[in-house]
Amino acid sequence: MRQAGRYLPEYRALRAKSKSFLHFCYTPEWAIEVTLQPIRRFGFDASIIFSDILTIPDALQRNVRFTEGEGPEMDPITDPAVIATLRDVYNPEILKPVYEAVAGVRAGLPKETALLGFCGAPWTVATYMIAGKGTKEQAPARLFAYRHPVAFQALMDLLVDVSAVHLIAQIDAGADTVQIFDSWASVLPAEQFDRWCIQPVKALVDKVRAARPYAGIIGFPRGATTEGLLRFASETDVDGLSIDTAGDLAGIAVKAGLPTLQGNLDPLALVAGGEGLDRAIDAILAVAADRPFIFNLGHGILPETPIAHVEHLLKRIRG
Ligand code: CP3
Repeated sequence: MRQAGRYLPEYRALRAKSKSFLHFCYTPEWAIEVTLQPIRRFGFDASIIFSDILTIPDALQRNVRFTEGEGPEMDPITDPAVIATLRDVYNPEILKPVYEAVAGVRAGLPKETALLGFCGAPWTVATYMIAGKGTKEQAPARLFAYRHPVAFQALMDLLVDVSAVHLIAQIDAGADTVQIFDSWASVLPAEQFDRWCIQPVKALVDKVRAARPYAGIIGFPRGATTEGLLRFASETDVDGLSIDTAGDLAGIAVKAGLPTLQGNLDPLALVAGGEGLDRAIDAILAVAADRPFIFNLGHGILPETPIAHVEHLLKRIRG
C-alpha cells in the first residue's frame, strides 16, 4: 500500500515543487527521493516505487491529469470503436522515467530491503479509462462491459499486454516483487469477478512469470469475498495475497494451500491510535504468529495519519 504521501512532511515539502502529480511521478530524482523517505524514517522491510496505476492510461494517451481536490481525470471512453485505436497510440517511452526511478531506488536502498514495482489490474485501470474519473461504484465501466463485451474484452487484452511489459521492465530495473492492485474488484458480481478480475489477472501473472520466473507477484483483489479470494489465489497462482480492510483474515488464514498473506490493518485504526489500534494489531499478529505474513495496511495510508502511530505500530510488530 502507499508508503509515501501526504502524511509525511518531507513528502509534502518536495511535492510542493511540482504542480502536476504525473510530472512529479515522471521526474526520477523526485520519485526516488520520496520512495526512500519512508524507508529512511521508519526502516520498513520493503519499499514500493513512487508512481501511479494511471501511468498506463497516460501511455495510452488518454490525457490523464490529477486536479487538486478532484482526484484523477482523463478522456472518457463512450464509443467502443475507440478501443481498437489504442494499441496504435500506445507510447511506452512515457514510462521510461518509472524504470529509471526503480533503478535509482534500488541503488539507494539497503541491500536487505525489498523493492516492489506495481501496476493496476486491467479491470481497475479500465474503470478509470471508461468513466474518465473515479466514480462511487464504477457504473460506467460496468454498463460498458455489459453492453459491449467484445470491445471490453479487447480493452482487457490490451491492458494485460501493456501491464505485463510494464511489470517486466520494473523487475528488470531492480524490483524484486510486483503487486497488482485490483482496487475496484469490490463492485463486480461473482460471474463478472471471474471474467474481469480473475481471468485478466491470471493472464497477466502467467505472462510475467513466464518471462521472469524469479520475481514475486502479489495480488490485491480489494473487496473480494472469502470465496472470491480463495478462487483468485488458486486460479491466478500469485505468490502473495493482499487482504483488504474488511477481509476476514482469520477465516481465510485457516484455509489450505494459500500463498503468503499480507495486509488487513484498517488505515483508520492507524489514524485513531490508542486501544483501537492495539486491538487491531493484536488480531493480525495472532494470525501472523504461525505463518509467513507481510504486515501491511488493508488500503492506502491516509494523509491525517499521525507519524507517532506508525512508530508505535512498528514497535508493536518488532517487539
Ligand atoms: O508510496 C507510494 O505512495 C506508492 C505509490 C502509489 C501511488 N498510488 C501514489 C499516489 C501507489 C501504489 C498507488 C496506487 C494507486 N493509485 C491505486 C491502487 C491502490 C489503491 O489506493 O486502491 C489507485 C486506485 C490509484 C489511483 C489514484 N492515485 C487515485 C484515485 C488518486 C487520488 C486519490 C488520493 O488518495 O489522493 C491518486 C493520487 C496518488 N497516487 C497520491 C499518491 C501519493 C496522492 C496525490 C498527491 O500526493 O499529490
